[in-house]
Amino acid sequence: MRQCGSQQLQSGMVLARPIYDQHYRKLLAEGTTLNSMSIKRVQDMGFKYVYIQEDGTENIHVEELIGVQCRREASEALERLATVDKQRNKGTSNPFQVRQKEKAFGTEQQALVQRAINSMMRDLMYARQPVYFPGVYLAKDQLINHSTDVAILTMLIGLGFGFTNKDLAILGKAALFHDVGKIRLDEELTYLHPMDMEEEQEDLYRMHPQMGAVLLEQDITNDIHVTMAVLQHHERQDGTGFPEGLKGSGEPPTSKVRERGTIHRFAEIISVANYFDNLVSGRVEREPLNPMDAVQHILNHTPDWFNPHVTQMALSVINVFPEGCNVEIRESRHYSLVGFRGVVSKINIENLSRPTITLLYNARHQRLEKPLIVDFRDDSRIKLDYLTDL
Ligand SMILES: [Fe+2]
Repeated sequence: MRQCGSQQLQSGMVLARPIYDQHYRKLLAEGTTLNSMSIKRVQDMGFKYVYIQEDGTENIHVEELIGVQCRREASEALERLATVDKQRNKGTSNPFQVRQKEKAFGTEQQALVQRAINSMMRDLMYARQPVYFPGVYLAKDQLINHSTDVAILTMLIGLGFGFTNKDLAILGKAALFHDVGKIRLDEELTYLHPMDMEEEQEDLYRMHPQMGAVLLEQDITNDIHVTMAVLQHHERQDGTGFPEGLKGSGEPPTSKVRERGTIHRFAEIISVANYFDNLVSGRVEREPLNPMDAVQHILNHTPDWFNPHVTQMALSVINVFPEGCNVEIRESRHYSLVGFRGVVSKINIENLSRPTITLLYNARHQRLEKPLIVDFRDDSRIKLDYLTDL
């Protein structure tokens, strides 16, 4: 299988993986032959790319880090909270006001949240390759997919730092609910690009960390680390973030001793994961960036925005060239392969930017008679370009 940008899909292509809607119900099954109607549906629903079958790539399998069931649980936990909160606050215009004093989120829903976090931890701990790449999920339901993806990357960074299970669970919970304050904003505002916001809208948007902290304390947890991480996920190391303009301590997140008034170590991790996901989803640069360019943006803002220890760990767990992605060889020690195109068929866990590639086209874009499989792990000159299609 290989990726294909949804704008590049053509009738007759066959899906190699199912496509799910925002509730993780199967929309199109694996093996479906696409026609103009199904292609339009995929495009209208906001999928950036899908996986298709392609001769020569039969041996390429892409494993998601966490299963669909796990995503479903996370989405259910967030949706339930949003529904409960909307009902009880009907008619209030003050986003910080909570009408009913009692907790509306009962033990059953609490258990749902816990289950979602536990499933995520389990899937990540047992992942064959604990490296992150953006999933192929619906762009439309931004809050839920964004929250889940941020939670996955955040927990992988936490795993990289060797956090205890207890810390991982706290970190995961904070990451999954980091933007929960947005459910108190008008839906229209949550879809607006920050550059398109009026001043008043931006002021309101900038309150979402506090709203989130209020909501979490009321409904989900009284764990101070969770609320602090949510409250501070938009703070920056140099003090230019919001809501409080706190500064970073420069300490690695493994060190629990922090100077008073500096950013919480969990918030520093969520901050990097959140920014990365926003870049690859097009919420910062409008056009989605590929993982390699997104990583470069993170580096450009380290250490002014991001804690260098976190950035370094993030780079070691973000899979810039995931299996199934289409690439062209821009530079290589093997001069004769420059310009060749193919599909990443195996990652090299020691060096994620030097994968094994199944080459299918030569530099003149002619199909090779037989796929050529090349392992680039020892090629120090290898430079790859992303392609949405071959
Ligand atoms: Fe946020």
